[in-house]
Amino acid sequence: MSNYKSQTIMNIVELDKLDVQAKERKRVIPNIGIDEKHRFDISEQLSKVLSDSYCLMMMTQNYHWNARGRLFRDLHMMTEAQYKNLFEAIDDLAERIRAIGFTAPGTLKELNDNTSINLPNSDLTDEEMMVDLVDSHETIVMNIRKAIGMAQKHHDYVTTDMLTSRLEYHEKVAWMMRSYFEK
Ligand SMILES: [Fe+2]
Repeated sequence: MSNYKSQTIMNIVELDKLDVQAKERKRVIPNIGIDEKHRFDISEQLSKVLSDSYCLMMMTQNYHWNARGRLFRDLHMMTEAQYKNLFEAIDDLAERIRAIGFTAPGTLKELNDNTSINLPNSDLTDEEMMVDLVDSHETIVMNIRKAIGMAQKHHDYVTTDMLTSRLEYHEKVAWMMRSYFEK
């Protein structure tokens, strides 16, 4: 047996061991004054907002790279600030899911399954990219609004506060980009 093969088999064995550990992993239930069922519902909403934010970050970075035309400079500069903002936001959202006792979606499949944001299209014109971004920020605004409703209903003030500041950010970005199309 070659070194490569024996190495691969060893990796499989080690992964199996990890899997067994994962099945036996103990979950410690948070005791923070919000019922398990309510925390679960909030975590589901947060997972959607996290997935939307992640996918919007990818779209934003794609358009930062691939913008062309008259709006190139504006798009290139705005999208850089935006994907940096989104990068920080996804970390806060994921950590909030953990803090209320659940696992944050962290694979491309999970993020893609949970998002309402469309895949970006690198061939769009500069104006079409701007419209796609406005649409996506407006989509996330609507999902955040639903998530805030759920968090408020169960007195989750931290999630409400976090999502309210995200709502403010996305509404402001959508307004700024929409303004390109007004006279
Ligand atoms: Fe850049």
